[in-house]
Amino acid sequence: MVTTMSTQPPAADATASSPKGGANKMWGGRFAKAPAELMAAINNSLPIDQRLLHEDIAGSIAHATMLGQVGIITDEEARTLCDGLAGIKADAIAGRLRFDDQAEDIHMAVEAALTERVGAVGGKLHTARSRNDQVATDFRLWLRTQCTAMHDKIKELQGVLLDHAEGHAHTVMPGFTHLQVAQPVSLAHHLLAYVHALGRDRTRFADAAKRMNECPLGAAALAGTPFPIDREATAAALGFDRPCGNAMDAVSARDFALETVSAAVIATTTLSRWAEEIVIWSNPRFGFVDLPDDWSTGSSIMPQKRNPDAAELIRAKPGVVLGSYVGLATIMKGLPMAYSKDLQEDKVTTFRAVDETTLAIDVMTAMTKSMTFSPDAMRDALEQGYPTATDLADHLVSAHGVPFRDAHAITGRIVRRAEAMRCALSQLPITEMQAEFPSITEAVRPKLDVTASMATRNSQGGTAPETTLNAIAAQRAQLSE
Ligand code: ARG
Repeated sequence: MVTTMSTQPPAADATASSPKGGANKMWGGRFAKAPAELMAAINNSLPIDQRLLHEDIAGSIAHATMLGQVGIITDEEARTLCDGLAGIKADAIAGRLRFDDQAEDIHMAVEAALTERVGAVGGKLHTARSRNDQVATDFRLWLRTQCTAMHDKIKELQGVLLDHAEGHAHTVMPGFTHLQVAQPVSLAHHLLAYVHALGRDRTRFADAAKRMNECPLGAAALAGTPFPIDREATAAALGFDRPCGNAMDAVSARDFALETVSAAVIATTTLSRWAEEIVIWSNPRFGFVDLPDDWSTGSSIMPQKRNPDAAELIRAKPGVVLGSYVGLATIMKGLPMAYSKDLQEDKVTTFRAVDETTLAIDVMTAMTKSMTFSPDAMRDALEQGYPTATDLADHLVSAHGVPFRDAHAITGRIVRRAEAMRCALSQLPITEMQAEFPSITEAVRPKLDVTASMATRNSQGGTAPETTLNAIAAQRAQLSE
């Protein structure tokens, strides 16, 4: 630990009970020899779980306080333990804490640091608990914080998309199906689609945080404890809604991590879809969006290149996060009750998923903020795609009483004429249309205009500017809830 720690002699009582042959100080009583080097290599988790330091200290302070309150240790001892733990935390924040590299995991490292600091009374901290309930508590505390952080970050991204949307309720662009021009929509309508999806992604993290908010502490190894502990007190002190109801479940459940990581898979999948659109839209063939220099990268050989690397990396993240999910689910599958050491590997996969997801959201938010859109390029692409063909067919139905199926066929032939003349439908001479449907008149012309077409789609959730502006306001209201 504190490098000093491993080099200093152990406290007097600790020496008295310490095992022979350098066996583990915490559990070596029945062992004559220390673990083999390779045994230690596979067993030691400190490099990974030291991330749980602050949660471990918080859990231990709650536990020590409760032990004092119910009289399992004296008030004086409880105070000594809590002060010692607070001192370790202060050292960690100041960058002074060094873990004993012999420590098997974060829980033992903290206890060793505590005992070094306060003497033999440090050994009383582990009364009426086990590392099994301890690690489950630490992990839930950590993940609860991360769920809130990811939730809030997604909210920020939604805000950035809404800012862009607000300025583009009248910006007309091709709405795509099959990535082929379908109907005119506003850029705001397109961006709002992501705002809605991200709203579900964000609340999935909030739901996971709520469901995991039960406290394992006091479950001890798996069976509970004969000591008169107060689980309600420790649960409340750590901000949990209640203690976990079954001690075996408490120490062995990791569905809260599976749920969070699955929410991360889904959230990064949404991000990857927007990322893919950024890749497509920033291609000069589309030119819908301009990524500034600081969000583009160059090629080491092709001087002209401007690559959307960040978007491509975000596009790849669901692969990485799903890998974590599969890893974690595979670790959990078929594990008998209650604790098994397999569960130590849960943190490797979960930390990775959370880190990658957090990075992906942060990058997407910053990159989206930096983008500028090109309404001209959007309109050009739109005009080339006969996006008002549906409006023409609808006009034949409503103004001329043509059955829709026939109107569809007539319109298809009119589109072919426009294609042959290389012009937009709105530009096609009326005589060309009359060649396919003699009674059509110039009254159709306004229907072929993309902006007018967009404005007609004012059904709830539609792309008409007025409808979209109301939807933006409603989403803003949800964000400020
Ligand atoms: N480092 C262990 C983990 O992460 C802590 C619990 C160890 N419990 C045990 N019975 N060996 O799961």
